Formats: sequence, structure tokens, C-alpha cells
Amino acid sequence: MGAPSSSQGFSTESYFQTQRPPTGLKEKSDRMHGFVEKWKAVKGKKVVLVTSGGTTVPLESNTVRFLDNFSAGTRGATSAEYFLSQGYAVIFLHRLHSLRPFSRHYSHSLNPFLDLLSIVPSESDSSSSIVVSPEHTKSLLPILQAYHEAQSSGSLLSVEFQTVNDYLWLLKAVTASMASLGRRGMFYLAAAVSDFFLPEEKVAEHKIQSNKGTLSLEMDQVPKVLKPLVQEWTPEGYIVSFKLETDPQLLIPKSRAALSRYGHQLVIGNELHRRKYEVVFVERNSHSSSARPEKGSGDDRIKGTETPPIVEFAESNKFDVNGLVQKEEYKEMWLRLDDLKDGAAVAGKGRDGEVEIEELIIKELLNRHQRWIDAKE
Ligand code: PMT
Repeated sequence: MGAPSSSQGFSTESYFQTQRPPTGLKEKSDRMHGFVEKWKAVKGKKVVLVTSGGTTVPLESNTVRFLDNFSAGTRGATSAEYFLSQGYAVIFLHRLHSLRPFSRHYSHSLNPFLDLLSIVPSESDSSSSIVVSPEHTKSLLPILQAYHEAQSSGSLLSVEFQTVNDYLWLLKAVTASMASLGRRGMFYLAAAVSDFFLPEEKVAEHKIQSNKGTLSLEMDQVPKVLKPLVQEWTPEGYIVSFKLETDPQLLIPKSRAALSRYGHQLVIGNELHRRKYEVVFVERNSHSSSARPEKGSGDDRIKGTETPPIVEFAESNKFDVNGLVQKEEYKEMWLRLDDLKDGAAVAGKGRDGEVEIEELIIKELLNRHQRWIDAKE
């Protein structure tokens, strides 16, 4: 089957039929599959897929240049740590060289690890030893302990992607494995996925030459894989997507639109500049059964779930083909670090002495995921 023209766009199906799988897909898929099977055998163990960091879009197949985005993977790496601390097994699907759980505390730009170390001199240089400076030991210790715990229990699996094509193939593969977990599987899709890409046949083989003076590119839209993911690939997984906006006014309407379009459980909205301090949980009300879309959509998935404190309640109306009002009800709950009177007391102390918003997010998700599991039993 040939690629569709740009005006048709790619469906998820035509994407996977026309775009080649990345090198190493089988080996990575097998590792993720093995991890899922191992934890599936442990009664009651929950498994979460955390996607993290930005995807690239190469402009040349011998790649010199590519399009990228701002994401450093902070949200994903931080969240993975809190999921581990809450007993989850974590598949951390992340952008190559983006931040990773535990080591993120000592990134080369923010907190270079060489600054933590001191030399204990001895008579000859060769027998001198290196220690962590006493002033850093207190903060490093719990990180190192949690890291060792994750290593020894094998509860963290890290898998890398680079391009948007890598990401899409790996996401499909890991979802196929995780589907067998039923409701014990959670999908926490924090990666910043490119909306546009260059299909294989439009990618220049060699470095694009600059002698023409300008460069024009026509990119195709990346298919929204959230739809098949929710509705076909994993009908029972608990799915959390993120919505990033730079205009705060769009955050809630766009998050609601995503819920309505894909039929999953939760959208976490975040505004670019406030994303480390506040996020909004956008969900359907459990009693908004009138919002049920056509057969086969993911709206069936919210039956029997309830959600805790509603900080702000929002309601909007839709009209069906007969002009009758169909109520579609959403609720929003803001989580803000600023709201914490005594952050450490309310939220538990973060390892660096600061509360991180991901800790609050994961605590909220625990309850929701458990209710999702219990609703089935
Ligand atoms: O890494 P940090 O610097 O900490 O930044 C974190 C973050 C801001 C990147 C993160 O919190 C976030 O908002 N991630 C999602 C950003 C994004 O890609 O949004 P989107 O509107 O393009 O996509 C919405 C959802 O649809 C996402 O969950 C995405 O996984 C999914 N999607 C996107 C594109 C696509 N083709 N298919 C998809 O399924």
C-alpha cells in the first residue's frame, strides 16, 4: 500500500503500513514484554508505562538536522520515581539522553556530580580516595537507596526512543504486551509527541544543501494514536494523557475535547510556564452517562468510577441531531504547589527538601487507578 497524499493524512493503520519499524524494535519489545510478564505473575502488582521527553523528526535519513521540542523529560523522570515509591513496576519509555529517574537530581547542568565529591588525600596520589562531601550525603542517601531498591527488585525498565517513528512503534508494541494486564496497567503519556513528521519518501537521503538559500518543508500530520490505544489496543488500561498549552484559556476546553474525542479516563492539563507548579485534572463525571458516544468508543470505560474532591465543577451542553440537549459534564481539579500552606507537612517532603508537583499527581492517580481496578471486581 502506498502512502496517502498529504491532504488525506495518515490514519494510524496506514502509518504502520507505510513507515518502517526502527532498528532494534524486536529486542526492545521483547524486553518490555518480558518485564510485563514477570510482574503480571505477581498478584496485585500494578504496572505503569511512563512516556517521557520529546520526539525528534529527522529531516535527512543520514541525519544531520532534525526538528525537536523543549521537553527535558522532567515530568516523566520525576513521576517514574514517585510511581516506584508507591509500589508500581515502571516501564520508562524515554527520549535518548533526556532526564532519567534518580540521576535527574544530578544533571550535568543543574547539579554536576563532580561537585558532590571530595578527595581524601593520602601520601601517594594513587591511594587517595573519593567520598561524597558530608554536606551532600544527606540529600544523596535517600536517592541512592531508592535507586538501589529499584535496581535490585528489577521494578524499573528504561527503554529509549529518539524519533517520533521510534516512539510510535514502541508505544504500539508495549501496549500490546500491557493489554494482558487488564486494569492493572496504567498509561501515563507525558512525552511531548511531535504533531508533524516527514514520511519516509519525503526525507532527503543526504544532508540538505544550503546553496538554495531557503528551505521549504511540507510535513504530514502524525496520526493521533491515542484513539486506537484507548479504543482497540488496550480496552482496559487506565489511561492518562497530558495536554500542554501556552494559552491558559485553551487548557480546559482542549483537555475536555481530548476526553470527548478519545474516551479515556483522565487528561492532565498543564500550561508551559506554570507546569512545575500547577496542573489541572480534567475528567468526566461518573454520572454523565448521557455523554456516551457511538458504540465502541472508550466512554464505556468510565462506568462505575468516581472521583474525589471536585475543586471546580464545570458543565457544558451538546446538542444531538434532533436538537435535544445532551448534557456532557466534566469536572476539573487543580493541584497547585502554591496552595500548600506547609508544603512538607501536606505533601510529604521531597528528596531535595522541596515538594514536587509529581508527588501530588501520583498520589491522586493511585486512588483513581485503584477505583478503576475495583470497579471491575
Ligand atoms: O518534560 P518536561 O519539560 O517536564 O515537560 C513536560 C510536558 C509539558 C511535555 C508534559 O507535561 C506534557 O504536557 N506532555 C504532553 C505534551 C503533548 O505532546 O501534548 P499533545 O497535545 O501533543 O498530545 C496530547 C496527548 O496525545 C499526549 O498525551 C500524547 O501522548 C498523545 N498523542 C500526541 C500526538 C500523537 N500523534 N498521538 C498521541 O497519542
